[in-house]
Parts: sequence; structure tokens; C-alpha cells
Amino acid sequence: MEKIVSLCKRRGFVFQGSEIYGGLAGTWDWGHFGVALKNNLKQSWWKKFVDGRRDMYGLDAAILMKDKVWEASGHVAGFSDPTEDGKQFNVMFKTQIGAGEEAAVSYLRPETAQGMFVNFKNTIDAFHPKLPFGMAQIGKAFRNEIAPRDFIFRQREFEQMEIEYFIQPTDWEKYFEYWRGEMLEWMEEVGLAMDKVHELEVPDNERAHYSKRTIDFEFDYPFGRLELFGLAYRTDFDLKNHGLEYLDEETSEKIVPHVIEPSFGVDRAVLALILSAYAEDEKNGEVRSYLKFAPSIAPVICAVSPLLKNKPELVEYANTKVFAPLKTEFGRVIWDDNGNIGKRYRRQDEIGTPFCIVVDFDTLTDDTVTVRDRDTGEQERVKVADLKNYIKERIS
Ligand code: GAP
Repeated sequence: MEKIVSLCKRRGFVFQGSEIYGGLAGTWDWGHFGVALKNNLKQSWWKKFVDGRRDMYGLDAAILMKDKVWEASGHVAGFSDPTEDGKQFNVMFKTQIGAGEEAAVSYLRPETAQGMFVNFKNTIDAFHPKLPFGMAQIGKAFRNEIAPRDFIFRQREFEQMEIEYFIQPTDWEKYFEYWRGEMLEWMEEVGLAMDKVHELEVPDNERAHYSKRTIDFEFDYPFGRLELFGLAYRTDFDLKNHGLEYLDEETSEKIVPHVIEPSFGVDRAVLALILSAYAEDEKNGEVRSYLKFAPSIAPVICAVSPLLKNKPELVEYANTKVFAPLKTEFGRVIWDDNGNIGKRYRRQDEIGTPFCIVVDFDTLTDDTVTVRDRDTGEQERVKVADLKNYIKERIS
């Protein structure tokens, strides 16, 4: 774990929050490559679960909501953890809205889910969906965790990707199974080590107050087998408490739909992905560490280098004929001319860059470049004119 934390800092993925002031426990700041990795994960999730479907409606609700939301949802009364002296501590962050005596109590949301429940009616009025249908949201959540720990595993400010899937009450078992499969499929698609993913049937006395059945997807982290994502059957608990219902326009029948909730933590997804991708091997008698991200998820798709940075003809060619067109096409392309080629490869290996492209003296006469594969270390000559397609094929 120490190696991972150090790599994440050294290579600009994740920094400790408020570090220059001694750090603020449970908060982490994301550097350039961490943001890119997180964005790629979120995009892949949105593409599969929102854009890739006909029955899903996206939302981006406000983080601040009226205190009544959290009273109805049961969080004011019951979202607590025991402290060391046995007392219950509500882990919602309380804040105030407005000034002086007029100020109203509010909370930073501890889950994105409630934003979707309170917009259930708006979504129906705007889009007229038929059951079953879902709402999806990606956003920050806040919990005043008593003991934040294990790097980005347990934080006080983190991000969730959640779906509330509304169904006929009798269909719950069918859709619970269905979403179980969808969740596993996405985990595999983004490159999680599936032999480290395990399912735990959460017992009655350990489930959240709103759930009748929960499966935790656990992951084998270096600090133990612990929760990665959750799948819950929330029944009609939330809609009922908010006084919301659904009118079947064909039968004119009013019902309170039931809810299946697949919930994904973005930060835990990133951590599990980095742990899945981390590898070490020996190259030229030296141990190297690298991240074998799938090209579609990697923060950087390729790095472009002139063999020598003090040769203007190489720099000019690399910049105008290789870097600029690839950067325009793919965005996630970086220029790297620091240190010798060996050092550049090591650096890109640690970031998880699948391809390193080097412009050398042969390039000037035959318009080919060296493309070096991160995992095998093998190099091949590719025509500059074919580079875009070469990379496109490998990303897809
Ligand atoms: N809406 C349901 C819900 O919030 P949860 O199991 O409390 O359920 C869902 O949280 C997911 O959010 C977890 O599976 C985990 O991935 C992530 N998560 C929860 N607490 C977290 C924390 N303190 N730090 C980082 N991620 C967290």
C-alpha cells in the first residue's frame, strides 16, 4: 500500500488534502493524472448506464438540500456510527444557510440518492417514463467519518455514482439479480481484477435503515477484504417517506414504485483499479513498476518524445508532425523530453501510459517512428501516417 500511495503522489495522481498545513484527515486532492483517470471511469459509467440505455434519466442535483429531506429519509434520526464511548454520532456534516437568527440548518448530502428521490416527480413530469425506469447521478457526498483511513478508501468527502431504478414491487427479485449482473459487467469492463472481487450478503442487523436486501461487492485491498460498491433493495422506503407516487397513465392506477439501488464509490473504484493495474517486473536487470490500465481508461494514451531534445530537427518533427495531430485527435497525449529515453519509459510506465512514441534520425528520412508497448517493452516501427489508426484500434 505504501508503494501505491507514494506512486500516486510522485506521479501526480493524488495528494493529501491541505498538505502544506499539515493535512486535513479524510480529504484528498486529485492531481492531473488522477483527475484524468477519475474522469475516464465516470465517463465509462455514464456511457454504459445512461447513454447506453433507453430507460435512464441523468441528474445533477444541488449538494445542499432542505433539512426536511434528511428528516424524511431517516438520516437525521439514524445515520450514525458509534464512538469509542458507545454514544451514537450522526456522521452528516451540519451547516447553516443564511445569516444570524434567520439561518436554517442544512446538511452536506451524505449520499447522492436523495437528490434523485426528491426529483422523482420532476423527472416524471418532464419525460413521462414508464416503469421500470431509472435515474442516475454522479456527485460528491460527505460523511463526518469518525476514523477516516486507508488512503482514499474511507474519506470525509468523496464521490458517488448512483442509480435509483424504479420498478413494480413484485419485480424486485428479478431486477436485483439483473443489476447484480450489470455491476459485475462494468467492473470487468474497466479492468478490475475480478478474482479480488467478492460478494457479501449483508445480514439483517447490519443493513442500512432503508434496505431489505443488500449485497456488498468487496475487494481484496492490501489492508483487507472490504466494501467496494453496494447493491440495495430500498423498497418504497424513500418515495413513501417523501410522499411521492407514480400514476400509471394506461390503467390510471397510482402506486409507490419500489427501488433497486446500485451504488458505486468513485474513489474506491479508482483505488481498486490502481491496485488491479499495479505490476512489477524486471527489465534490463532493474525492477520496474507499472500500471497496466486498459488504453480506454489510462490517464495518458501516449507520450511523444524526440530522441534528443537538443536536436532542433527532431524536436520540430516530433512536435508538428506527431504530437500536435495526436493531441488534437485524442487529447490525452503528452510531450515528454525529460531525461534519457530509459527514464522517460520508466516514468510513463508508472503513469500507465500504454504507448511511448519516439522520433529519431530514421524518422527524418522514412517517416516512421518507434512505438513502444508498456506491458511487453517491445518496440515496432509505425508509419507516422498510420499512427492515429494504430492508436484508435487499440483504444477500442
Ligand atoms: N446511497 C447508498 C449509499 O450511500 P453506502 O454503502 O453508504 O450506500 C455507497 O455508500 C458507496 O459509496 C460505497 O459502496 C462506497 O463505494 C462509497 N463510500 C461510502 N462511504 C465512503 C467513504 N467514507 N469514503 C469513500 N467512499 C465511500
